[in-house]
Amino acid sequence: MKIKTQYVCQSCGYAASKWLGRCTGCEGWGTLVEEKVGHTSNREAALEAAGLHGALLNAGRTQWVGLEPDEGEEKLGPQRRMGTSISELDRVLGGGLVPDSFVLLGGDPGIGKSTLLLQMAQGLLKKQPEVKILYVSGEESIDQIRGRAHRLGVSGKGQIFLAAETLLENVFATIKELKPDVIIMDSLQTFSTGMLESAPGSVSQVREVAARLMSLAKSSGVNIWLVGHVTKDGNIAGPKVVEHMVDTVLYFEAEAGQTYRLLRTVKNRFGSSRELGVFEMEGEGLREVLNPSSLFLAERKSPVAGTAVSASLEGSRPILVELQGLVTPSALSVPRRTAVGMDSARVSLIAAILEKHMKLSLAEYDLFFNVAGGLKLSEPACDLAAAVAIWSSREDIAIPNGWLFIGELGLTGEVRRVSQPEARIEEAKKLGFKTVVIPKSSADRLGKVSGIELVPLQRIDELPRLFR
Ligand code: TYD
Ligand code: MG
Repeated sequence: MKIKTQYVCQSCGYAASKWLGRCTGCEGWGTLVEEKVGHTSNREAALEAAGLHGALLNAGRTQWVGLEPDEGEEKLGPQRRMGTSISELDRVLGGGLVPDSFVLLGGDPGIGKSTLLLQMAQGLLKKQPEVKILYVSGEESIDQIRGRAHRLGVSGKGQIFLAAETLLENVFATIKELKPDVIIMDSLQTFSTGMLESAPGSVSQVREVAARLMSLAKSSGVNIWLVGHVTKDGNIAGPKVVEHMVDTVLYFEAEAGQTYRLLRTVKNRFGSSRELGVFEMEGEGLREVLNPSSLFLAERKSPVAGTAVSASLEGSRPILVELQGLVTPSALSVPRRTAVGMDSARVSLIAAILEKHMKLSLAEYDLFFNVAGGLKLSEPACDLAAAVAIWSSREDIAIPNGWLFIGELGLTGEVRRVSQPEARIEEAKKLGFKTVVIPKSSADRLGKVSGIELVPLQRIDELPRLFR
């Protein structure tokens, strides 16, 4: 068989016939790497070794079924899910693990992916004692995994199996023999198939490995977890190149200098794709943070100017966040506008609305904007609080403790409705907030909320009168 050479971008998968300094696909620099394409001559042997001529490769006629499930056939829906005993993980999965799903867990090396999945294995066993789990590591030795499991207090109860292997064909043979219900592949970039010439971690290998595992998940009904390291150097393909193949994509992230970890749903065929789970890394592994609002609120006895609290809906859960604005006289001819945690175009827009509708002069001032605790906000419901934080800093008026702001801002200065105000207000109440400023239309609809004073606001220029 002829072996051809291609240049493949390791971050987006774009392939070119000659080397390019800059990728045409994603415009990244120096990401193209030479890869051999085509199959090795011993493809047949590799297939045979993997037992792929047999049960795993359902050769023959495609199965068909009626649209309606037959009598006695397993029902679709939540009853098919497996609990992981980790509620933050169940939430980001959309209410537990779907048995034949193919899940990608991406994140920086060292963030805690292997730790999370070992803890998940134990959690799955707690809820489903019959479930058989295979953890395949291409990175660590059996002793290392055992050591970690011991430190985490994970016991297998005879149901968790470990394998240290990098050749996919051997993994398939193991799977065929063991017949696990859940397979954890740690990590995607370390596995390779003997059927391809290119090196482990290259785009072709990563894609082929993922594709073969996907068909295994779908044809045999096992749940497969793929761990994918996010790579910065571009010599190893990142999880991005397989995102389209999997059912669910989760990313595990941390802000520099923070001990907590955010588990985000980026894609989910079985639930919302905006869920957020919060963990803290401790000596005994990851601990769930069940009340993340307290994590993102700065603790402060007396109020200071330049901050305002809002409630952001992260998937199905409202989380309270503190927004901070700092407005200082600028020495530059073009004042600085810096935003962290919120889209800077959105912050500029809010600043423009304040200038226009509140006659707040910002032209000769630098504006710094920050979301405390490192959360990234994408919801317009936090607009009002962002405006209040900027206004509060510029006018040097501190917002009293216990006030919460929710509302979207329109270009004309009106405060607009947001989704699910009840859930946000409920969360604020739980954390001891007393006063909630909300869009007038929401206030009219909600009427009274016990224990909370609702302050309706129709336009942003009515803001100053609340603090006089
Ligand atoms: P790990 O799960 O190996 O990360 P990944 O698989 O994403 O590369 O986590 C590694 C880090 O977590 C390592 O720096 C040590 C730390 N850690 C703890 O702080 N406590 C623990 O109980 C464990 C197991 C790891
Ligand atoms: Mg790991």
